[in-house]
Amino acid sequence: MAAPILVIVAHPDLAGASRVHKRWVEELARHADEFEVRDLYALYPGGTLDEVAVATERAALEEHGTVVFQFPVYWYSAPALLRTWTDEVYGFGWAYGGETAAPGEPGRALAGKHFAVAMSAGDIEANYCAEGTVGFTPSEVIVPFRATANYVGATCEPEPFTLFGTENGLTDEELERSAAAYVSWLRGLPRG
Ligand SMILES: Cc1cc2nc3c(=O)[nH]c(=O)nc-3n(C[C@H](O)[C@H](O)[C@H](O)COP(=O)(O)O)c2cc1C
Repeated sequence: MAAPILVIVAHPDLAGASRVHKRWVEELARHADEFEVRDLYALYPGGTLDEVAVATERAALEEHGTVVFQFPVYWYSAPALLRTWTDEVYGFGWAYGGETAAPGEPGRALAGKHFAVAMSAGDIEANYCAEGTVGFTPSEVIVPFRATANYVGATCEPEPFTLFGTENGLTDEELERSAAAYVSWLRGLPRG
């Protein structure tokens, strides 16, 4: 069996108001041998990461070849803690700054890893295109993730796994289907 996929979850109210991500995380927990979940808002309720937290997050990344960022779309981006996490964890001398180092070495710790994004959007799919009210595709919405992966020498799936319309009449049946589709999509990701 391949090493588990690391799933970094950023949802500010996973245990409370969340419907989609709560269900997705529940599905991942059923396959705990395949997916290791890190619930950022539960781990860091104060919204900051200290030195120990940074070391812990880096160790988790170092142990996994495939990493997925899972979140609800908030203002065409991710919830704030994922940005804070990136700012703190992707430090100079660890994630970047070691152009001549071998992949995995300090300054190139993330080189060669495979990243991907799984997100949910309140809006409907028809609006996520050039002609729609959003004006951009999901692949364009995740450009910061794709560019960051490029910069640190990793790859990022250009197409995120996306569940649309979560605030536009998403039925329980559709949510159930999405949980199964999410697991299938995860299993098909490139493995490091
Ligand atoms: C602060 C905030 C900002 C949001 N911004 C967007 C947005 O830019 N685009 C969108 O399609 N949905 C947006 N939504 C809707 C969320 O993406 C939606 O509630 C979420 O996908 C549902 O997942 P959950 O049931 O796990 O909370 C926003 C929701 C909140 C609370």
